[in-house]
Amino acid sequence: MVENRGNAYFNIEFYREKGRIFMDAEKALTINKNCWNSIAQHFNGKDALPFYGPYSQNEEELQLLGNINQTAVLDIGCGSGHSLEYVRNKGAKELWGVDISEAQLQTARKLLPYEYVSLHCCPMEEAKGILPSNHFDIVYSIYALGWTMDLPKTLSLVYSSLKKGGIFVFSWEHPFYPTLDVKEGRIEVEQAYSSSQDRVFDSFKEEGIQAVMKRRTMSTYINELIQAGFTIERLIECECSEEDVFYSERYYSSFKASKVPATFILKARK
Ligand SMILES: C[S@@+](CC[C@H](N)C(=O)[O-])C[C@H]1O[C@@H](n2cnc3c(N)ncnc32)[C@H](O)[C@@H]1O
Repeated sequence: MVENRGNAYFNIEFYREKGRIFMDAEKALTINKNCWNSIAQHFNGKDALPFYGPYSQNEEELQLLGNINQTAVLDIGCGSGHSLEYVRNKGAKELWGVDISEAQLQTARKLLPYEYVSLHCCPMEEAKGILPSNHFDIVYSIYALGWTMDLPKTLSLVYSSLKKGGIFVFSWEHPFYPTLDVKEGRIEVEQAYSSSQDRVFDSFKEEGIQAVMKRRTMSTYINELIQAGFTIERLIECECSEEDVFYSERYYSSFKASKVPATFILKARK
């Protein structure tokens, strides 16, 4: 049974089914598209290769993408295009990007005005008709995959777009990180790690814009990759160096990241 549970504060409708509170995926995508069009300026080149995300090692150290020269590459949630610019500089011969936000893609189009670059404004969940099958040597997603409202559908899309032997590398917030809060020098677990309630922000990036995200555990990412057909090659739970640690109660802090990884990176192969 689906029961409407309107939330006046967020002005977002939630539904309850089998004890789980969630939001209609189509509505969530509309909200997130609006959000990313409004906050694009905060992400111009942020969370882009060679960096994998907050308090993480970078691609120059990890070498997860291998030899990029002459490859066909797809970026899921390509944002402002700075990761694509990185792989272009490493010799990729064909660059594709998918992103939900036209504002992000406008920046990417200015950065990458080349005929071998193909950028598409589309939710990653719905890009099946746009992307070629068995085509890419490398698909990656830098701090964007977790925005999907439908992980199995997105992973199946990535899988079908890759050539046999092609690799998929993605980074995202470590699922344990958002469950923690820092208060008066202590780190407290504020929410259940395995909670499946959607994560709703009433003011993403303090811009007064709503956003909604699925909560997933590490096992969900791993099991869904296996289910999609991938072989997992590496999981990195990023470490924050002890020397860089200083106390802060901010959401992203070296204090918190020194106790629990802020970012994880997964490498899988078709
Ligand atoms: C943190 S930014 C990623 C930055 C980007 N990877 C780069 O290299 O610059 C997250 C991106 O995911 C995009 N996004 C959010 N939800 C999405 C969805 N459902 N489908 C496609 N892109 C999405 C946002 O528009 C944003 O550009």
